Amino acid sequence: MYKYNCKKMSKMDYSHFRTEVSKKRRSAATRELTKIAYAAPNSIISLAEGMPNEETFPFTEISVKLSDGSDFVLDGEELATALQYIPSQGYPPLIQAIKEFQRKAHAPPVWERREVVIVAGGQDGLSKALEAIIGPGDPILVQNPFYPGASVVIAPHDAELIPIEQDDHGISSECLREKLRERQLAGLKMPKMMYINATGANPTGTVMPLQRREEIYQIACEYNFLILDDDPYHFMYFNDEAPCSFLSLDTENRVIRIDSFSKVLSSGLRIGVITAAAPLVSSIELHMQSSHLHAPTLSQVILYKLLKIWGFDKMMEHFRKIRSFYKERRDLIVKVAEQHLQGIAEFTVPSAGFFLWIKVPGVQDTWKMVMQRGVSYGVLVAPGAAFMADPSEPCNALRASFAKASYKEMNLAMERLAQLIRDELLRNRASLLGET
Ligand SMILES: Cc1ncc(COP(=O)(O)O)c(C=O)c1O
Repeated sequence: MYKYNCKKMSKMDYSHFRTEVSKKRRSAATRELTKIAYAAPNSIISLAEGMPNEETFPFTEISVKLSDGSDFVLDGEELATALQYIPSQGYPPLIQAIKEFQRKAHAPPVWERREVVIVAGGQDGLSKALEAIIGPGDPILVQNPFYPGASVVIAPHDAELIPIEQDDHGISSECLREKLRERQLAGLKMPKMMYINATGANPTGTVMPLQRREEIYQIACEYNFLILDDDPYHFMYFNDEAPCSFLSLDTENRVIRIDSFSKVLSSGLRIGVITAAAPLVSSIELHMQSSHLHAPTLSQVILYKLLKIWGFDKMMEHFRKIRSFYKERRDLIVKVAEQHLQGIAEFTVPSAGFFLWIKVPGVQDTWKMVMQRGVSYGVLVAPGAAFMADPSEPCNALRASFAKASYKEMNLAMERLAQLIRDELLRNRASLLGET
């Protein structure tokens, strides 16, 4: 395996990365008391917290049936816990189960210096992680195009996006190194963080090969920035080889990993996980204390029960089934896209995730075509500009999801999209002729 030149730092200075706002966060005594009460022996009588009495809640039992035929019931003490406030870090038994899961799934180096916090979905995790690090005027490296859910978090902070262009394997380490070198030579402020989505990149569907990940990690060590690895499609790859996460490579404890259970268990549960250096997780936990106190307890208890009943291996088996489910749909959309879009659009077959990124060379900007005329053609796709670091620039791409539509719907959608594009090309030609 590739050998790092990175010096193994005994201690990273995380305060160097944190924003002034993040540094000013302080703990809420009431939240700290809930944490103390949870860890205390049963003999302790707590009159400290403002918890409602569960006897007043109208629920007496919640029963859950799983797709494999097994089931579980939440009642008595367990139900009372599931309906109650918990510490901001998360439901303590789930925290332990998730730590075990992360160790098995990623074998992260320097594990003893990391912590986890349960968040209300990946979006909540990435917004809190970004807001802990990115303040006014801070530069941040982003793959271009990238997930708009990250750009909407960054935008109000007047941060400077440093876009790194991608090829069929994600961002290239040479481009990244060149950008950083130029910045340094020009005496510009250097980035504290890179936001990346290396497996099933949203919107392009690429999977970054291991060697690139290693090179990028090496560059992060050299230029001293954190890697925010937003990885909701980690288990949803379509090639034979499982991608290696940045967490697995993180000898210096500079990766903030965001997991989401939205795509693999349920998006409505709203459960995600941040795994990062303990001081960064503590600062994010303080942010939780001042926002929604903790991610939904009921969802956390359901996830905990599922992890207990299934265990790691059965969960992996579930992920395997999901992979083949989406791979089949990926193949179907590719088939109908090839059939209908031949000669007018081009795309690379996605290697993971939910999306087909389609380029339409004859249309300079797809925005109006999609947003103003798409509905009247009976098809809705996402305009490419929405994913670009500079959305005001024209973009000839669009994103189509193959996650939910049936084969028949995908086929019809591509047929309609082809008509929409053909008419757009005619329209463009007509307006060109009109101008001359
Ligand atoms: C790259 C990426 N990050 C984060 C999210 C948000 O996921 P969650 O439902 O876990 O908040 C999504 C959802 O589409 C996504 O594609």
